[in-house]
Amino acid sequence: MSGGDLLVHGGRLVGPTGVTPADVLIRDGRVAEVGAGLEAPEGIARIDAAGKLILPGLTDPQVHFREPGLTRKEDLASGSLAAIAGGVTGFMEMPNTDPNTDSPARLDDKLSRSVDRCRADYAFFLGGTRENADVIGEWEHAPGCAGIKVFMGSSTGSLLVPDDPTLERILRSGEKRVTFHSEDDDRLKERYAALPDGSHVREHPHVRDVETAVKATKRLLELAELTGRPIHILHVSTADEIHLVRERDLGDLVTIELTPNHLFLAAPDCYETHGTWAQMNPPVRDRAHQEILREAAADGTAACIGSDHAPHTAEDKALPFPRSSSGIAGVQTTLPLLLTAVRDGWLRHEDIVRLCVEGPRRVYGVRDRGPVAPGQLGHLVIVDPDVSGPLGAQPFHSRAGRTPFADVELAGMPVTTILAGRVAYADGAAKGPAAGRRMAFDGER
Ligand code: DOR
Repeated sequence: MSGGDLLVHGGRLVGPTGVTPADVLIRDGRVAEVGAGLEAPEGIARIDAAGKLILPGLTDPQVHFREPGLTRKEDLASGSLAAIAGGVTGFMEMPNTDPNTDSPARLDDKLSRSVDRCRADYAFFLGGTRENADVIGEWEHAPGCAGIKVFMGSSTGSLLVPDDPTLERILRSGEKRVTFHSEDDDRLKERYAALPDGSHVREHPHVRDVETAVKATKRLLELAELTGRPIHILHVSTADEIHLVRERDLGDLVTIELTPNHLFLAAPDCYETHGTWAQMNPPVRDRAHQEILREAAADGTAACIGSDHAPHTAEDKALPFPRSSSGIAGVQTTLPLLLTAVRDGWLRHEDIVRLCVEGPRRVYGVRDRGPVAPGQLGHLVIVDPDVSGPLGAQPFHSRAGRTPFADVELAGMPVTTILAGRVAYADGAAKGPAAGRRMAFDGER
């Protein structure tokens, strides 16, 4: 299907340096013109965005959509619907499905499943393993491959590379930035073994403690320096790691990502209020950590924000801790939450574009998706800044069915999402056929 033609008229455009009044003309699915007073050529659809904010569609570089194998929790159709409902027009999906995405054939399987079912553009990570460590670099430039993801600590699923020699082999295979879940598995094993039966989920950040994360991140920084391979550390949860990354100052060799969960929830309250629905790995920690993570989001220490959308069913969450599943469904709530951060004064509108559009582009070499400008894909999200009330009053599309952010007071909401010049989501529902496409990356072959 070719791209659409559309004029979005009279809105305020959020760009890399601030907010300015601007119209956006999309022709054949790509941004053609940006400026004040644009006129739609004859016959072109027009959306009146007066009083609204216009942002480029967000790229979410960390989601778990659970297909194949775990589709009772989510699938590519339900996850990508939640994505466009939250203004996310491109997602990069994690390899801990069942089976794991650890070979070109498994990547191809996900790509075929996406056609005509994904409502946002898609790419998939390959999971690093002991078995594929020496060859995985040969696959990372395959079309539709977001990069290599390695779990250093056990989390949902069976992917795990706990030891430095295998990590080093992976880092020496290939050239793209490698992405890590950074928790030390030996320490996790010791601490879970010592956890008394019947413990409450409030123990979660103490079992998977600060040292568990810091120890793994220290090992990673050493390995990045040793091999010269760029690394990206996902869902950084501690102030200590932020300080470490700043102190080591390895420049572009090390980039980091934050999640809204760690930025907007804090222990111990989140565990008292939401129980296991606030349980994720690495854990949400106390306000002292949250404060430094917020600072890192605002000052550029963090390259990007990814939702780590990790949906689980009510049954999986109801298992006794620590068997209760870890993960929070968040692809739809990132943008509404970041709008509250702007209202509350610790982020600016342009930081959203930096963290959710330019960041993924820089970290992963994502093509054609940047600040709204001629030549970029015609992916936009229109935000109504006047929507208020609790986030939980809005439709919620993830199969998880529940978010710990339901009581958050909104400071605006994405109301219309445009994919390649066509309305993909409006009035609380998907519009038209599922039209997501494979995302493109630099160096693809
Ligand atoms: O909490 C988490 N959930 N952290 C992860 O690393 C994996 C994710 C999942 O897939 O459920």
